[in-house]
Amino acid sequence: MLDASVEGEAITVQRTDWKVVRVAEPNWANKTIWTGDNLPIMRGMNSASVDLIYLDPPFNSKANYAAPIGSEAAGAEFKDTWTLQDVDIAWLDLIEAKHPRLNKVIHAAMSKSDKSYLIYMAVRLLEMHRILKSTGSIYLHCDPTMSHYLKLLMDAVFGKKSFQSEITWQRTSSHNDRVFGNVRDTILFYGTVAVDLPDNRLPLDPEYVRKHYRHEDSRGKWRSHDLTGARTSSGESGQPWRGFDPASYGGRHWSIPKIGEYAKYIDEVLAPGYLKIEGIHARLDFLDEHELIHWQKKQGSFPCIKRYLLPDQGRKPTNLFTDIPPLSKSAQENTGYPTQKPLALLERLIKASSENDDVVFDPFCGCATTLVAADRHKRNWIGIDISPVAMRLVEKRIKDDQGMFQDIQSRVDIPERTDLGDIPNYNCVENKKFLFGEQEGICNGCQEYFQYRHLEVDHIIARSQGGGDHLGNLQLLCTSCNRIKGHRGQEYLLAKLAT
Ligand SMILES: C[S@@+](CC[C@H](N)C(=O)[O-])C[C@H]1O[C@@H](n2cnc3c(N)ncnc32)[C@H](O)[C@@H]1O
Ligand SMILES: [Zn+2]
Repeated sequence: MLDASVEGEAITVQRTDWKVVRVAEPNWANKTIWTGDNLPIMRGMNSASVDLIYLDPPFNSKANYAAPIGSEAAGAEFKDTWTLQDVDIAWLDLIEAKHPRLNKVIHAAMSKSDKSYLIYMAVRLLEMHRILKSTGSIYLHCDPTMSHYLKLLMDAVFGKKSFQSEITWQRTSSHNDRVFGNVRDTILFYGTVAVDLPDNRLPLDPEYVRKHYRHEDSRGKWRSHDLTGARTSSGESGQPWRGFDPASYGGRHWSIPKIGEYAKYIDEVLAPGYLKIEGIHARLDFLDEHELIHWQKKQGSFPCIKRYLLPDQGRKPTNLFTDIPPLSKSAQENTGYPTQKPLALLERLIKASSENDDVVFDPFCGCATTLVAADRHKRNWIGIDISPVAMRLVEKRIKDDQGMFQDIQSRVDIPERTDLGDIPNYNCVENKKFLFGEQEGICNGCQEYFQYRHLEVDHIIARSQGGGDHLGNLQLLCTSCNRIKGHRGQEYLLAKLAT
């Protein structure tokens, strides 16, 4: 779904004009946690090597967060206010040169602070898109401050067709401070359809059970369910059975469970061998032999089927999560880390979008809630956080949770990609020709047209800042723009953002 090479659906971050190995070969060990800025670290990670990403980045909430002194997370702090000082000019250059749709989204933001935040997020989402496998999924946790802009960024990076759901998590029940106070967060989910697992189902509402499952016998609670379906049929399902003609019952036909959970339950528990019976009438007889037909007392009433409540019957979670309470101060899992999320929330997402041994990645892992939840469900995991407290907490939390010592790798270095094959010299003729075609001869600085010989190949992100020699990081500048590049200051960025 998240095919990095599909133009039009998603932004092309991976050029295919040199050999790129698109296999999931991680260049890190399972259970690695990095301390550092996630951007250079992700730039060093191999493409298509992660199955599930959950990120809970700063929200641009204009707040500063700090853990209480004395808590397990003491020392953890991060600011959530964005200014132009947080933005590297090269990032904007990269977006302008290579991702025009993203550029549009950024310029749709109203304030410089919001634009700065979106640039910060956009460059990171591009890396996440590259790192995620084409079968993978990504959940972006945010709040109403920026969720509307972030959804546009996600559409631009991952493709609108990959959008799966916008989840609302009711994170608090009461806010007495103001009318229409915010009680929810938003989780944007893109990627592959979530799976329905019995242990991810929610308990049925007792009121619903009382209202709908009114009958009860030794086999459990049951409700009376129609045995017919819309439209008549000329086959056996349209013929009368025991004197009841479905055609005369509003033009219908016999419709009995054939597939799905209830058919399986009948076959395995209520009437063993049911699915082996051939023929509609024979199956109806079989159901009756096993007392699964509800013969209503009222004269002329059509027979129905007894639908028992399945032992693990539950509601599939919807995109409205109201059953996961926020972390209380006294909760055992509370580390005191600012903005810590409940394990139950992460467990639900991880179960729905990954399998055993898949790689779960959290690039803003905080006190490692995602990593603990992944570990609990036998997923592989990696995480990054800029705060050193995260590393300390992950080791402690996983040990406390699983009750054993785990081989956790703590790193601060930037990994080196091993999936690029041989990249040609950045300045080679092939690159220059490709870029000349891509930019149609226009200098990416002054936007003027130049003849081929007056243009020079330039690194968008300098090599000294982790920018590579691959085409996704190269552009053509005219000789004069190339000379002045590097001398540009804040005014240049201000002018660009003002447009
Ligand atoms: C909202 S918190 C995440 C909380 C986490 N979900 C949990 O349950 O503990 C955001 C985290 O992002 C981290 N952070 C901020 N900027 C970062 C960056 N550039 N690279 C890596 N981590 C960063 C902060 O230190 C903070 O821990
Ligand atoms: Zn120029």
